[in-house]
Amino acid sequence: MGKTIIISNRLPLQINISENDLEVSPSVGGLATGLKSFHQEGDSIWIGWTGLASEEIPENLKPKVLEKAKSQGCIPVDLTSEEIEKFYYGFSNRTIWPLFHYFMEYTEFDAEHWEAYKQVNQKYADAVIEKLEDGDTVWVHDYQLLLLPALIRKEKPKVTIGFFNHIPFPSYEVFRTLPWREEILRGMLGADLLGFHTYDYERHFLRSVNRILHYDINFNAVNKGNRIVKADSFPMGIDYNKFRNSALEHKSQPKSETTDIQKKLDYHKYVSKGTKLIISIDRLDYTKGIANRIRAFGYFLEKYPEYQENVRLIMLAVPSRTNVPQYQLLKKEIDELVGRINGKFATVNWTPIWYFYRSMPFDNLIDLYTSSDVALITPVRDGMNLVAKEYIATRTDNTGVLILSEMAGAAQELSEALLINPNNFEQIVDSIKYALEMPEEEQIRRNKIMQKRLRRYSVEKWAKDFMTNLRETTWTRKTFRTLEINEIIKKDLFEKYSEAGQRILFLDYDGTLVNYEDKPEDAKPDPELIELITSLGRQENTRVVLISGRDKETLGAWWNSPDIDLIAEHGIWFKKGEGEWELTETLDCEWMAKIRPVLETYVDRTPGTFIEEKNYSLAWHFRKANPELGEVRSNELSAVLRDLISDHGLSVLKGNKVLEIKNSSVTKGKAAGKLLEENYDFLFAIGDDYTDEYFFNELPDNATTVKVGMSKTQAKYYIKTSEQVSELLSQFLSLTH
Ligand code: ADP
Ligand code: G6P
Repeated sequence: MGKTIIISNRLPLQINISENDLEVSPSVGGLATGLKSFHQEGDSIWIGWTGLASEEIPENLKPKVLEKAKSQGCIPVDLTSEEIEKFYYGFSNRTIWPLFHYFMEYTEFDAEHWEAYKQVNQKYADAVIEKLEDGDTVWVHDYQLLLLPALIRKEKPKVTIGFFNHIPFPSYEVFRTLPWREEILRGMLGADLLGFHTYDYERHFLRSVNRILHYDINFNAVNKGNRIVKADSFPMGIDYNKFRNSALEHKSQPKSETTDIQKKLDYHKYVSKGTKLIISIDRLDYTKGIANRIRAFGYFLEKYPEYQENVRLIMLAVPSRTNVPQYQLLKKEIDELVGRINGKFATVNWTPIWYFYRSMPFDNLIDLYTSSDVALITPVRDGMNLVAKEYIATRTDNTGVLILSEMAGAAQELSEALLINPNNFEQIVDSIKYALEMPEEEQIRRNKIMQKRLRRYSVEKWAKDFMTNLRETTWTRKTFRTLEINEIIKKDLFEKYSEAGQRILFLDYDGTLVNYEDKPEDAKPDPELIELITSLGRQENTRVVLISGRDKETLGAWWNSPDIDLIAEHGIWFKKGEGEWELTETLDCEWMAKIRPVLETYVDRTPGTFIEEKNYSLAWHFRKANPELGEVRSNELSAVLRDLISDHGLSVLKGNKVLEIKNSSVTKGKAAGKLLEENYDFLFAIGDDYTDEYFFNELPDNATTVKVGMSKTQAKYYIKTSEQVSELLSQFLSLTH
């Protein structure tokens, strides 16, 4: 088994230059902190950015940067300051980040930023391809690299690629506003497996794929025609033991060895006995709800004045994306708010808010987590929020209360926390009071349950689960029972074709020779296709039969040639060359008058659907309807119809976005079977949908049956696209020229 290549915009190490030397510190943020443990333990390399612009690194220090990165299994990608401005501060953090967190008013659509995003994604792709060896697995992370899976797939079609989205995926209604929505989805679909923190994000993604790209979704699998892509939810965990053990060590530390912050915290507890500490830790980001949290704390002191001088909020905010205007404004707003609340309530002995605007070493984080009675985490939107999980993990005596916004992905796993709506001030304030007064037994009971869950679903387990699922997708790809037509199969097929005395080719039309169009009448054959198929029919000892569900008028108008036979309406009509249409069976049509009104009620209720009337069948098309509604209504309608038609010798066929009602005695298989009375030694049949399975089934064992697309089939082989079908048929033709 090869190595894993992890790629994220930012490496887990941050490099700074001071006095012509390098300073290395760990990166902040859930992605880097979480994934670091997986990286340290496994056989992986990590490709990403060091946090410095290439122009900022003096030539003499460049080898040192490489060396430092290498010592931690990392490979830096160089970004110029222009790329950082347009790709990182630009498209990543002024378009995708606000949009995916539902901050539409902050979202900028800038074509130059988009160009830079594409270029930098290509840069990352090149860096990956340079390191990629056979058997390696690629794991791409987060919203800065949404195009990367497809860019890698383009160069290396067979490689196994996973993608994990660390931030929310917004609802279709929000996502659809993005001008480059198709490109983004296609980029992501280059992966084999797409991971999200929650089921909701996964569903939002799948819905967008369905609505925007019109791919069919089967449970959590996207059928791209040539590939199946899976989406699933994997809530990211933390390195539970690391936090737990550090907290335990911290507890047994001799006084002389404690950090300055811990000394300050201890002093505070000593001089103001009985006062409580509330902690809040985040990157300074508008999604984290920091301003509202401060306001709510001010309101709390007002509503419950008995807590003045008896509680303190310690707020730690890490500087983040400081070149983006909204972050600068937020910093200003928070400085002012902290000043206002402290100014309003502070006494000689007490300041209500201690505010730190900086990153802190790991030990200090542990100091803060272990010394605080309450953690107040109130994001307005957050993909996961690891801080909430870290707080719970460090509570070694099981006390402490977590107040958590229900808008954080973590809330779905931490339901024993006090969950709040970050926009509901009264609820936040009352929850703070409830938390400060919660009996110890209740704290312990709640925390124990959450700790058990966090211990079990640690970051290690998260990564392992993702990787196992990723490998399974490749395995499924390899073990798909039907074989893809490859060069070896083609060689054999061409030999049989050339040697055959009598050949018959059954060709389905829609989805096989041409792609589907919204309106059936738009899927007309072009002159090249007509030329190709008629030339095949003109070959000696070769019979070409177009076998379609189309009505005989359309099929006859498009394909009137002495060299082609036609089967229309799923086998009801047959026409030999330029001869007359013949009925293959005598059929009764009285049922149509009864069924048509039922279909009409579904047309009325389902915008975009319509009825196609054929001579002996009725079809209800829902290709242009809202895909989800179309699916729901088609299931409903087929249940209704099945009740109505029982005992009437009718059947309901579910084709590609169409339900067709016709006499059960007629099938494409039966019609094809009738033509096999002559002795053919080369039988070939190709089709794409459910109705074609009838002739795959009916043909003798020596027939070569081919399905277009990768869904379940009785055919022996599959081919990915209708373009490849034309290519294969042209190859047949060239064999005899
Ligand atoms: P996000 O990914 O949006 O930044 P998370 O809560 O998921 O939010 O992850 C934040 C990570 O950064 C946590 O692992 C936390 O320990 C770390 N972190 C947060 N604040 C600081 C800080 N001031 N100093 C160092 N690390 C921090
Ligand atoms: C979040 C994102 C990460 C990002 C981190 C820090 O956790 O999901 O992709 O790395 O924030 O943000 P930054 O812009 O500093 O990399």
